[in-house]
Amino acid sequence: MQLKTPVHLYSILIGLLLLAECECTVGRHSSIFKSILSTNDECGRYLNESNGNCSVRCRGLLHRFWDDQRGNLGYYALKQFYQPDPEDKCYLNRTMRCLKQVPVSDESCQRVAQYVRCYKDQYGEENTATARFIPFTPIQQTRILMECAAILGISEDSLREAAKNSGEIPQEACLLRCFLIRQGLYSEAGGFELERFELQCGGYGSGWNPVAIQQCIANVTDCDSCTKVHRMAKTCLQLHFKVLPFPNSNLDNLIPVIVEFYGGLLNFLLTLEPTALQNTFLAGFTLSAQVTI
Ligand SMILES: *[C@@H]1O[C@H](CO)[C@@H](O)[C@H](O)[C@H]1NC(C)=O
Ligand SMILES: *[C@@H]1O[C@H](CO)[C@@H](O)[C@H](O)[C@H]1NC(C)=O
Ligand SMILES: *[C@@H]1O[C@H](CO)[C@@H](O)[C@H](O)[C@H]1NC(C)=O
Ligand SMILES: *[C@@H]1O[C@H](CO)[C@@H](O)[C@H](O)[C@H]1NC(C)=O
Repeated sequence: MQLKTPVHLYSILIGLLLLAECECTVGRHSSIFKSILSTNDECGRYLNESNGNCSVRCRGLLHRFWDDQRGNLGYYALKQFYQPDPEDKCYLNRTMRCLKQVPVSDESCQRVAQYVRCYKDQYGEENTATARFIPFTPIQQTRILMECAAILGISEDSLREAAKNSGEIPQEACLLRCFLIRQGLYSEAGGFELERFELQCGGYGSGWNPVAIQQCIANVTDCDSCTKVHRMAKTCLQLHFKVLPFPNSNLDNLIPVIVEFYGGLLNFLLTLEPTALQNTFLAGFTLSAQVTI
């Protein structure tokens, strides 16, 4: 995550403040699940339109498949609302062709509306009622990391130090375990939630092999629960977990470090680059065909 300008900085601060207010969740982690109907309803409260192009963009923001600053589409966060017909062999190619035809010069609401239309028309049947996992943004993840550090008694100074020197994160294994549990990506009882992982990390590319991952996970036999999760995450899921210095040292008393977290081969939101896109689609296809959790 690159944060360069003060604008980013303030949006982070505002984001943190807003998050503290609006995230009302039950259950044993901070994950949020939302359906198309529930976000449409939410967006209707903010915008003076319903079912217009800007409502679609609003849904994209809340479901995390759209972000104006990046201008990229989060395929994984979007495709989970669409169910391809099992007989349809061409839906990926059709969707891809459709996405590529959307002019990037179009104004943001129009652009997102066209992307979503591609999924609706070409990918599969839209499911408006089922609530799905909403991936965390890097800002939310940073907040979760700080909560976990506080829970585990890791001082902000030691995190700052680790970030500055690219050194070892104090209690890294337990910090990562807490970080994963609070995101609903791991639990002692259920293990890793691979589908949510895929969503959170924006896909793993064509190297994604859930069967091999399960075998690898079953093979890790550390007695200590922190070391076990850490090893599974690093060796089986190739998780990247790092803390970086907050870019503005005048404000690092508010946000001591930021967290960098992604899995395997691809980053959270992908660029609309054809080969990456193709790989993502293929990986998505393999996953839905093989994984039953
Ligand atoms: C919504 O927009 C319409 C016309 O575009 C306007 O007449 C109406 O007052 C607006 N309502 C609100 C609540 O802003
Ligand atoms: C999809 O497109 C790729 C590349 O253009 C092609 O190799 C592949 O055969 C197509 N798949 C189907 C099912 O048409
Ligand atoms: C929504 O965007 C499409 C282009 O994607 C445009 O043709 C249409 O007029 C827009 N609708 C509204 C209500 O602005
Ligand atoms: C399991 O661990 C053993 C050694 O501890 C190793 O030889 C083997 O390749 C591992 N299997 C998998 C699937 O990772």
